[in-house]
Amino acid sequence: MIDKLEALRSRIASALAGVKNLHELEALEVAELGRKSEFMLSLKGLGELPPEQRRSAGQKANEIKSGLEAAFADKRQALQEASAGALAETEWIDTTVPGMPPPAGHLHLTTQAIDEITEIFSRIGFYRVRHPEVDWDWYAFESLNMPPDHPARDEWETFFIDAPPHPRLGRMVLTPHTSSGQVREMERRPLPIRMIGISKCYRRQMDVSHVPMFHQFEGLLIDKGISVTHLKGVLDYFARTYFGPDRKTRLRPFHFRFTEPSFEVDISCGICHGTGRLEAGVKCRLCKDGWLELGGAGMIHPNVLTAGKIDPEQWGGFAFGWGVERTMMMKAGLQIPDIREVYKSDFRFLRQF
Ligand code: PHE
Repeated sequence: MIDKLEALRSRIASALAGVKNLHELEALEVAELGRKSEFMLSLKGLGELPPEQRRSAGQKANEIKSGLEAAFADKRQALQEASAGALAETEWIDTTVPGMPPPAGHLHLTTQAIDEITEIFSRIGFYRVRHPEVDWDWYAFESLNMPPDHPARDEWETFFIDAPPHPRLGRMVLTPHTSSGQVREMERRPLPIRMIGISKCYRRQMDVSHVPMFHQFEGLLIDKGISVTHLKGVLDYFARTYFGPDRKTRLRPFHFRFTEPSFEVDISCGICHGTGRLEAGVKCRLCKDGWLELGGAGMIHPNVLTAGKIDPEQWGGFAFGWGVERTMMMKAGLQIPDIREVYKSDFRFLRQF
């Protein structure tokens, strides 16, 4: 029995002497000292020896085993040291070489548009604000001159939050437009107000030209002696600066509950320059008769000022608001067939901006 173990020991020891790398060492260890190795199986035979031999044989066997284990450990250390030494020779690095930059992304096209819009309005004294995107019915509707059950509310296909209503402010909603920031701003700021509010809006709609989450920007100016002329001037300034020097806006009468008078704002078409016709007299296919619809605007309704605790006899102003996504797509001349592309996070699309 012990002779057998001795014989195995010298076989293993000479194999170990021939090992050249850690990989070989590992393989040899598994083969010779692993659970199913001849050596380990032989150790099991100890139990079958007559009791008077078992003790001394056991001791001897253990000596051989720990001797071998130590030999493997020494060899492992020697190999590790050798390979670290070799690495220092072959794998040196020059720490002065510039690193490899990780692949850099860029801002989403909506964020780029928001930055640009903010910057354009800041040049004429509008400051950027954000208002809650989950808010009370009071701010989204009622303070904007839309009493409960008023049919005008149907226009804003609203998501309601399943939360207990506020005793005074009503139900909680996902803001369906940035106009919910009007009265909030009136409560927050000293007068005069010149805000540009940009936030997410939510409506229950989803098709090629609508996503349930989108962004609007809302201009609100409250001061003394403000007229439609000021509104028109600001809109024309924006159209020229954002879309290009030859672009104009036009106001079309419309109805909103929170502005009086109210308008829809159109911008002259960049393709046919507001004529509706191309050079050869062909009808322009991008626009309707030379104009593209941008969004809503108007002079702030006295009831809204009153809701914001501002005296409508002394102060007045205008507001306008429309979608960031729509505006930026119109600028890029992008006629993508489906606006949902913007939020699909498909790099093939996003990388182009
Ligand atoms: N909030 C309106 C909408 O979402 C747009 C609007 C803003 C109209 C400000 C008038 C004044 O359609």
